[in-house]
Amino acid sequence: MRSHILGTGSYVPKQVLTNADLEQLVDTSDSWIVERTGIRERRKVAPGEACSDLGIRAAQQALAAANIQSADVDLIIVATCTGDSPLPSTASLIQYRLGASRAAAFDISAACCGFVYALSAADAFIRSGQYRHVLVIASEVMSSVTDWTDRNTCVLFGDGAGAVVVGRTEEEDRGLLSVHLHADGRLSDLICVPGGGSSFPASESMLAERLQYVKMRGNETFKIAVKTMEEAVREALAPHNLTMDDIDYLVPHQANIRILKAVGQRLGLSMEKVVLNLDRFGNTSAASIPLALDEAVRAGQIRPGSLIVLAAFGAGLTWASGVVRW
Ligand code: ACO
Repeated sequence: MRSHILGTGSYVPKQVLTNADLEQLVDTSDSWIVERTGIRERRKVAPGEACSDLGIRAAQQALAAANIQSADVDLIIVATCTGDSPLPSTASLIQYRLGASRAAAFDISAACCGFVYALSAADAFIRSGQYRHVLVIASEVMSSVTDWTDRNTCVLFGDGAGAVVVGRTEEEDRGLLSVHLHADGRLSDLICVPGGGSSFPASESMLAERLQYVKMRGNETFKIAVKTMEEAVREALAPHNLTMDDIDYLVPHQANIRILKAVGQRLGLSMEKVVLNLDRFGNTSAASIPLALDEAVRAGQIRPGSLIVLAAFGAGLTWASGVVRW
């Protein structure tokens, strides 16, 4: 028995923030942002719209696509670094509002790798026989940790959510073939939100130092991202004796077009096989892979039989990959 993705869904907030809008906030330009990142616009929540609000919409779509009722969900995992609040978990809030009353619920924090980490946990619960249907949601309100005075970071991120329903399959050669997860905590200061947790709890001085916002050493992150993403894709293929030619689509974490072009070049993988939506949504952290996956499924690009590789890197530092025969 294997786990398999039975349905996908996604949701982005209505408000579009263009590069021209950011030109009004910081000393930047549309041409700099497009050239250095590939991002043209991103979405931003309305006041009062939280992580769970986005996650629920994506989850409802995924459940409908999978033809699964919320009462039949055994477990909800939410991957996020921007949950509604530190306590309780965003997964619990979504469990209640979805009416998934039988489901256990917890959150996973692995930044941009959160979706692949959560998928791996869902896979283990399914293959062990403990659960039949696991709802994996990745939802981020990156605008809540974005410093709108810092041009190094504010142009990069966006808000959004993606979700998948993971169930069982007995079909040979179908489903989630494998997942690989990695972390190197020595690099945890490359990307971080220092404040708001137990090391720098909310206080006037914490706010004055702007520790509640994302800090990133972009240039160093860039180089490691290219290296780890390449390794992650090769590691994903190796156990199955698959080559780059076997890949129908790479669905990568959507951080920067230059990172993805460099990865494609190193792998010898045509960019036509790389699912991209960062131009419209920016870096939505954990949500970026399921958001791109859902778009590709709904567009008919990913079809039954397609071989899909997922690859991510992010704060932690974490990196991860997975192979799915759709
Ligand atoms: N507009 C104009 N100029 C800018 C901007 C901006 N928005 N941002 C930075 N610059 C300037 C810098 O100040 C610097 O100027 P200087 O040379 O006078 O000092 C110059 O541009 C070059 O800066 P670099 O940081 O070297 O630019 P780089 O080409 O590396 O691009 C970027 C920066 C886009 C952040 C890139 O490094 C990147 O994408 N890194 C990876 C980030 C990432 O993927 N993070 C993912 C993890 S997120 C997570 O886990 C939640």
